[in-house]
Amino acid sequence: MTRTFTYSDQQDTQIAFRPMHPDDLPQAVRLSKDLAWPHRQEDWTQMLGLGHGIVATTQDNAVIGTILWWTWGSQAASLGMIIVSPAWQGHGIGKQLMARARQALPGYTLHLNATSAGVPLYEKSGFRYLGVVEQHQGNVASVPLIPLPEGCRIRPAGAADLDALCAMDAAAKKMNRQHLIRALLSEGRGIIVDSETGILGFSFCRKFGWGQAAGPVVATSENSALAMLAYWAGICTGQFLRVDMPQNDVIATALDEWGLLRVGTVISMTTDPGDALSPAPGDATCFALCGQAYG
Ligand SMILES: CC(C)(COP(=O)(O)OP(=O)(O)OC[C@H]1O[C@@H](n2cnc3c(N)ncnc32)[C@H](O)[C@@H]1OP(=O)(O)O)[C@@H](O)C(=O)NCCC(=O)NCCS
Repeated sequence: MTRTFTYSDQQDTQIAFRPMHPDDLPQAVRLSKDLAWPHRQEDWTQMLGLGHGIVATTQDNAVIGTILWWTWGSQAASLGMIIVSPAWQGHGIGKQLMARARQALPGYTLHLNATSAGVPLYEKSGFRYLGVVEQHQGNVASVPLIPLPEGCRIRPAGAADLDALCAMDAAAKKMNRQHLIRALLSEGRGIIVDSETGILGFSFCRKFGWGQAAGPVVATSENSALAMLAYWAGICTGQFLRVDMPQNDVIATALDEWGLLRVGTVISMTTDPGDALSPAPGDATCFALCGQAYG
């Protein structure tokens, strides 16, 4: 579908909107790099592989806008990588990308993590404030051992854990992210906090952007979450590690001490604020996101 825009050179420019293909990824990487976002082509490839996307293109097939989304079951979806090239911002392209993504997701409750630049567009698109997500990152300095209660241990996650991890993730996030958890498990870098009474938490770490990213971190207690983050930080000592986490002072203080400083925040938004998560102590809780895009 095309739309005619009058741009500053007063030439009419046809902007087309179409599904994103793997061939578009090099241009998409350029768009995110121009914003100083860290995503590598491998990160874009994984994101498109697990979801869907639309691009806005000019007549000569230059990609000037992107939006991706991931469906989690039949009722919830996350949107991310919503970018319009700076030269084209303010011409309604972001709004068009959002409208087309929403058309593809009828009846879904939508979630996203908004930069300050994105908030006005999302508010106008019916999204409401849910909370704040902090971005912590840096080269890991030193990490103390976080003791677990008697009888608990950290062990690698394996394929046999898939159902248990999906159930715990669904309890924490109120959505079915089975294909994401399956993909993360297949990379072989998952851990579980195990106890005599069952699994108390799980977490993954993967290559992302400028180094590694730890997340999601899902656990029934802050202590288990911290122990898993300390495990990843220990493995990544001296390397770049990123953690995107819903605000939590205890975990934020620990990350700061380990050299993972808070470098920014984004706003969690949803089309159904009734969906707000307020876990009770002992409930499965998401202490770190899989990333700002996936949630
Ligand atoms: C956020 C972004 C995608 C918006 O794309 P865009 O094409 O410039 O947005 P649009 O022109 O479609 O504007 C959409 C609406 O938001 C409003 N809007 C956009 N930027 C605004 C701003 N800074 N302040 C107030 N309103 C704003 C527009 O007025 C418009 O509303 P209207 O149609 O009622 O006038 C674009 O600015 C961008 O790529 N920013 C950098 C990357 C980024 O931060 N993306 C968000 C990731 S969550």
